Amino acid sequence: MVDPASRPVTIAPSLLAADFGRLRAEVQAIEAAGADWLHLDIMDGHFVPNISFGPNVLADLRRHTQLPFDVHLMIAPVDPYLDAFIQAGADHISLHPEAGPHLHRSLQHIRSAGKKAGVVLNPATSPDVLAWIMDMVDIVLVMSVNPGFGGQAFLTSQLPKIAHIRRLIDRADHPVRLAVDGGITPATAPSVLAAGADTLIAGTSVFKAQDYASAIAALRRQEARA
Ligand code: DX5
Ligand code: ZN
Repeated sequence: MVDPASRPVTIAPSLLAADFGRLRAEVQAIEAAGADWLHLDIMDGHFVPNISFGPNVLADLRRHTQLPFDVHLMIAPVDPYLDAFIQAGADHISLHPEAGPHLHRSLQHIRSAGKKAGVVLNPATSPDVLAWIMDMVDIVLVMSVNPGFGGQAFLTSQLPKIAHIRRLIDRADHPVRLAVDGGITPATAPSVLAAGADTLIAGTSVFKAQDYASAIAALRRQEARA
């Protein structure tokens, strides 16, 4: 078990909270501010009750930043769209088990394209789904809000699930990132990191801040306190 205080923290700002009228400038600003990954929330108005943006937006932004594209697909069925996001420049693709009939096959497809594959667990979704697919997973993403909207309150009910998944990951024979998404702020980050997360996805607390670098640094500083 790694001491949480010594585990380096990855910060992935979520573009959902950016100003969509100036996406290129927003992405370049967040890169300059010290972000590690760019989290891209794809919503279809069906799997979740909101619509965001699609692969063309990724493809156009891809030319303007070096940040890894961490794509969170909230669309169903998800399989017909995997290739579009792979071709648009996704580096990581994470999907919900509820979004298709063959999660293992979907993960295989993402991996076979040379991309990192992630599984996203809704607040009500059991981590048991990981038991027979961990060998196919590079990222486990725990939702700490119901997916669909930014700006929601962090669900403390997810902390024991994060701790449980940390123990599963520590037994895995390859590196797996443990990310948490929803309601992440300097106030909630310490408990998330103490539970064993290594990656913080944050929309509102970064993109709605006046100073992106300070907002990212404030999340990063929590690693020492966790
Ligand atoms: C919600 C998305 C999140 C969202 C987080 O469905 O998956 O990535 O952007 O936003 P905040 O940080 O505002 O809760
Ligand atoms: Zn997300």
